[in-house]
Amino acid sequence: MDKAQLIIDGKTLDLPIITGSENEKGIDVTQLRPTTNFITYDPSYGNTGSCISDITYINGEEGILRYRGYPIEQLADNSSFVEVIYLLLYGELPNKEEYDQFNKDLTYHTLIHEDMKRFFDGYPMNAHPMGVLASTVAALSTFYPARVDGDIELNIIRILAKVKTLAAFAYKKSIGQPLIYPKNDLGYEENFLHMMFAVPSEEFTIDPVMAEALRLLLILHADHEQNCSTSTVRMVGSSRANLFISIAAGIGALWGALHGGANQRVIEMLRMIHSDGDNYQKYIDLAKDKNSNFKLMGFGHRVYKNFDPRAKILKRSADTLLNKMGINDPLLNIAQELEKVALKDEFFVARNLYPNVDFYSGIIYRALGIPTKMFTVMFALGRLPGWIAQWKEMRNAEVPRIYRPRQIYTGATKRDFIPMKKR
Ligand code: CMC
Repeated sequence: MDKAQLIIDGKTLDLPIITGSENEKGIDVTQLRPTTNFITYDPSYGNTGSCISDITYINGEEGILRYRGYPIEQLADNSSFVEVIYLLLYGELPNKEEYDQFNKDLTYHTLIHEDMKRFFDGYPMNAHPMGVLASTVAALSTFYPARVDGDIELNIIRILAKVKTLAAFAYKKSIGQPLIYPKNDLGYEENFLHMMFAVPSEEFTIDPVMAEALRLLLILHADHEQNCSTSTVRMVGSSRANLFISIAAGIGALWGALHGGANQRVIEMLRMIHSDGDNYQKYIDLAKDKNSNFKLMGFGHRVYKNFDPRAKILKRSADTLLNKMGINDPLLNIAQELEKVALKDEFFVARNLYPNVDFYSGIIYRALGIPTKMFTVMFALGRLPGWIAQWKEMRNAEVPRIYRPRQIYTGATKRDFIPMKKR
């Protein structure tokens, strides 16, 4: 089958079928409007393919996630985060030479302009680090104005190298500690941990268990095809807005409670359940109650309808990490119990609601000593290479048109203006 037929207004229209490399099928409606007066209606884009992409494959029914063809489980077991960044950006795993050069570039650009440091003095002490991150990433565009649209490859390296510095500075600012500069003989994860947790007066040794946990978390978050923040990055970039401002917009989209902001909400929810005597059923019932706006945070997904492979990996790794670090976190037990109760409940079963990536990640961030308000920043750090790869793919697309959805207007029809005294 290479076309679908649509009979509309007495006309039969042949709509081409597009088939992806994993046999995913889509109906091409690009000629619908020019040939008829109709548009398609799909308000939250549940059935809309906004692009053709070579980057990430998800099969929600079977719980499959692959970056450039490589299963997430294999990358989680074997790859470094820097390798994954390279893979997402350039389509292939790097050889030793390519890796060394890439790693060197990412290290060389970690410093931020000294003038930008003053920004951090201007934010209130209790500023949410996501607000700080979004605004400082946007501000990067003011420091590289002449080159903003010129040297895309260099700006990609810059943003990859600098965002972790900005993220760590945002954290240091929030706890009133001096900012710690990057130490460029360290690897990507180690450098970030150093900027987060070192203090000038003390020797700081990086715990390899922490660096390993961070590696895993970053890889699992690195891309997820056309989710809300990635679509935002593509949307903003489609107007030919620069990379920095497009990514800043993506950070804004990620912050929301239904997207990356869910990881912070999960821990807040688990704490609430704990302080309420571990009464799981009460919260399950609340989540089912149509009159309450309470949701089980960290549950459900638009695409995964079986399980989220990232959650599976994180559940296992939360257990192992806490054991290795000798931490007994009551919130892990609560999360596990809550999952058990929810997965047996008819409401959750009928709607295919399973734990998503945000359900167990917070337990690991806690074990690493990362405060709750920083969780979504950690998600942003992981998702950054995915956003960039998608932005780049959009800019290099065969037909890089501006994103511009249509609407069905349901407001007032034409009426005449009424002067104020007659209203
Ligand atoms: N708790 C209770 N009910 C839920 C939940 C939940 N977490 N998620 C979905 N439902 C119900 C929803 O009320 C609806 O019920 P009904 O059919 O009776 O109206 C049904 O399940 C389908 O939900 P939906 O809202 O139409 O699904 P969606 O695809 O629009 O939303 C979601 C997906 C992830 C936003 C949603 O499941 C949710 O709000 N989950 C909690 C927030 C969360 O964990 N977000 C992180 C997502 S994964 C990481 C990321 O992408 O950032």
